[in-house]
Amino acid sequence: MDSTNQSLKPLTAKLNEAGNLEIGGCDLVELVEKYGTPLYVIDEYTLRTVCADYKEAFKKYPKVNMMFASKALCTMGTSVILDSEGFGFDVVSAGEIYTVYKAGVDMSKVLFNGNNKSVDELSLALKLGVGRISVDNFFELSLLNEIAKSYDKTADILLRITPGIECHTHEYIQTGHLDSKFGFDLTQVDEAVELILNDYRNIKLHGLHAHIGSQIFETSIYGDEIEILVKELARIDEKFGLKLDEINAGGGLGVKYTDKDCPPSVYTIADIIINRLNECIEKYKIEQPALFIEPGRSIISTAGVTLYTIGSSKQVPKGKKYVAVDGGMADNPRPSMYGAEYSAQIVNKASAEPVENVTIAGRFCESGDILIKNIKLPELEEGDILCVYNTGAYNYSMASNYNRVQKPAMVLVNNSQSDMIVTRETLDDLIMHDKVPDRFKNK
Ligand code: LLP
Repeated sequence: MDSTNQSLKPLTAKLNEAGNLEIGGCDLVELVEKYGTPLYVIDEYTLRTVCADYKEAFKKYPKVNMMFASKALCTMGTSVILDSEGFGFDVVSAGEIYTVYKAGVDMSKVLFNGNNKSVDELSLALKLGVGRISVDNFFELSLLNEIAKSYDKTADILLRITPGIECHTHEYIQTGHLDSKFGFDLTQVDEAVELILNDYRNIKLHGLHAHIGSQIFETSIYGDEIEILVKELARIDEKFGLKLDEINAGGGLGVKYTDKDCPPSVYTIADIIINRLNECIEKYKIEQPALFIEPGRSIISTAGVTLYTIGSSKQVPKGKKYVAVDGGMADNPRPSMYGAEYSAQIVNKASAEPVENVTIAGRFCESGDILIKNIKLPELEEGDILCVYNTGAYNYSMASNYNRVQKPAMVLVNNSQSDMIVTRETLDDLIMHDKVPDRFKNK
């Protein structure tokens, strides 16, 4: 293993003397006694080690800026950690902007992405001094110019382009191919630049942005993406005499959800990006641009696990054995949405031999609520604790209250200490926004 995204488990996961699984020096059985289940757990050491991997891997390029794609996990606690590691943030909504702002993040290191940002969201971004806005389409370009004008401000932007690169990942998480809802087609870039130079006086263009997809295992496409971005910078300079000095290559590096997954290391990706960038700088004769990257999954996924308590089970005669946990598709929609696969272990039987093949079912009222289709585990009993690995990314951030079930708590573990960073929702939280019309009252 070269870098942390290639690990299936958090780096501190181990069997302890009590025979239980521990993470961050915390016995997971004790953690469950204290905080209950389902419980999201984030290992601070793993998170900081991933950040160190990225910084080390990219340090060969002098003008590099790391950003974390908040859509993978956006909480104030994790934002504070990433900020302390020197990361900026890619945000996609007022909610994400507000979360990092309240966490005390330097807003000049924030980039606002998205294909349909609202007037309120763009206004908030300008008001709070978000460093860059990645403009996605002509409508937004004109809207942003109007909003910036009304505040007597200049909006600092990148243009999001669709590089036309297909990557082999789930169709729903591919974004760089030509028929995509995101970004300007390469044939539309000139018109956008002309509008900015001639009409949109409250917009300053700094560079180009692209993102090719997520959970990517192919390495060469990153080089191709860089070449397309640099070639465009050179072309824009030649045609308009406009020297842009920033490129943002997006995120996308994959992680290891099961033993079948072999994601490339951060070091491999960094070498491919930097080498190709240096080659292209010479080839297209441009000044060295600042390079931005914005990974999400590969930063936070491995650091996170989810703990569940095992409840009922059902042996289908001559069929599968279903074992149900107290969470499922509302706290982790990825298996039902994308057919995503996960690995798991029994916390309180961490050294026991796996003996039976079971299907881990969720508790939600839907047949499709299956967390793991087929996994070999030790003999299971009600009350056992299941630890599902690699749930740090796109689990809490995509969680819902389906079936009016409260969202789980999240705990940060490090050096045998645990701190709650998201409290468990209460029943009152669930009805907090409900209103019963007065005319139905007193009946
Ligand atoms: N930048 C942009 C513009 C993006 O759209 C994304 C992800 C990222 C960066 C971060 O990509 P990452 O490094 O995390 O792959 N919900 C899906 C993933 C959707 C990704 C959307 N965009 C999932 O659970 O697999």
